[in-house]
Amino acid sequence: MKIIAKKDYDAMSEYVAEQLIAQIQQKPDTVLGLATGSTPEGVYERLVKAYQDGRVTFARVRTFNLDEYIGLDKAHAQSYHAYMNEKLFKHVDLDLTRCHLPDGSGDFEASSHAYESALKQYPIDIQLLGIGRNGHIGFNEPGTAFDTATHVVTLDQATVADNARYFKDLAAVPTQAITMGIQTILKAKAIILMASGEAKREAIMRLMSGKVTEALPASALHRHGEVTLVIDAVLSQHVSRHTL
Ligand code: GLP
Repeated sequence: MKIIAKKDYDAMSEYVAEQLIAQIQQKPDTVLGLATGSTPEGVYERLVKAYQDGRVTFARVRTFNLDEYIGLDKAHAQSYHAYMNEKLFKHVDLDLTRCHLPDGSGDFEASSHAYESALKQYPIDIQLLGIGRNGHIGFNEPGTAFDTATHVVTLDQATVADNARYFKDLAAVPTQAITMGIQTILKAKAIILMASGEAKREAIMRLMSGKVTEALPASALHRHGEVTLVIDAVLSQHVSRHTL
């Protein structure tokens, strides 16, 4: 795992956005794996700016998101469909028929299979990831088997509590989601995991211990040869103290 330490969140976002822009410039039909949450917001802002400045076109890009809540309408402001539309899709020249998110409604078995088939046809070139405080990736909570494909999950109490900030109260937070599995994520050709701030310290320290365990879903990334961990100074000071 390659580690890139930047001074702060803005510098991390800049670095990751430039990686993605370079990838698209070099391969205009790039397949991007996208994440939600607060962490990638700075990357999306910079991608929009790069598009507006004429530095990049998304016309031939295809995207696959990691996950979506179950029980929220796509039009709900906190659905990941709405998030992606607000943060990226509506601002750039992406062809919406090439933008895929798991379907959080209807027949989950059929939609999970359909998602895996589409991913097989269009393998992800670069997957963007954030990390939950409990080490989850996508919505793969601790204890998830590493060989899982796209599947339905029940969210940990800790994850529901973390996500409550986006909803009017705890009771309004969805408790289930559909997510790419860990095996699905590991099929991406390259992966960029971003983490910033004190809240992610424990998860990143556990990840950097090198121990591969289903108790820490992100540790599966040690089994992939092309992972870049991008962190800020808050986290890098701990990483260097423990790994040098
Ligand atoms: C959610 C998402 C994850 C994301 C995580 C961390 O659980 N499903 O993909 O990585 O939140 O979110 P944040 O970046 O806001 O800390």
